Amino acid sequence: VGCGCGLAVLIDIRTVAETVSTNADMRTLARDGVGEGTWLRAERQSGGRGRLGRDWESPAGNLYCSTIVRIRPGDPPPPTLALVTAVAVHQAIDALVPGRTQIKWPNDIMAGPAKLCGMLLERTGDAIIIGIGVNVMAHPQIADRPTTSLWALGAVEGSAGTLIDSIALVFADTLHVWRTYGLDPIRVRWLAAAHRPGTPLRVSLPDGEVLDGRFDDLSSGGELILRLDNGATRAIHAGDVFLV
Ligand code: BTN
Repeated sequence: VGCGCGLAVLIDIRTVAETVSTNADMRTLARDGVGEGTWLRAERQSGGRGRLGRDWESPAGNLYCSTIVRIRPGDPPPPTLALVTAVAVHQAIDALVPGRTQIKWPNDIMAGPAKLCGMLLERTGDAIIIGIGVNVMAHPQIADRPTTSLWALGAVEGSAGTLIDSIALVFADTLHVWRTYGLDPIRVRWLAAAHRPGTPLRVSLPDGEVLDGRFDDLSSGGELILRLDNGATRAIHAGDVFLV
């Protein structure tokens, strides 16, 4: 299919009723040599996984899918695919609930304080497995954080089955931009879709340190730039970010 960028891409979407985790299945497919453009969707997952070792509750009605990117020499840094994915999924979601959602670093999609979508990127060999979970009909609670769904936000059309079609198409286009022009145009799109600078954030770092500040910027390498309450800025590579 044409992806809007003048490029013809092959998109192969495979749907199963249930699996443990589409990311785990995509890892196996990666070892078997599947190429970019392959997507796997499950209607339910019995062992869905989230970031930072969390579970991702996966009842029927939501979108659970994974795809693969094969890293090529000269590609921008692979971790920045988190930003590519967030931009692409946000664009597909924004078509259903215009102006209602924002990206939260690195790649959650929120409606105000409530989480709508999460993504999990994992590396295996030369492949990055990208898993996406979007609350379409149901919104299970995640620990003590608020969550929402497209249905709760008033989306009048769109099911998991149609949303994956548009995500796959926009993702192919965004990946092409990343490969051809680098991170800069992705960063611009990410900033346009993210919370406004000045938004209060709390960041929990992997070593347990907790930082309070405000969203300032996204660095040219994709790090979160946090302006601390004392006026200094910190570049964050990894961590858990809360809207406060
Ligand atoms: C997060 O913690 O925000 C990331 C959630 C990622 C969930 C998706 S659902 C499809 C894919 N398969 C998984 O087991 N996890 C990801």
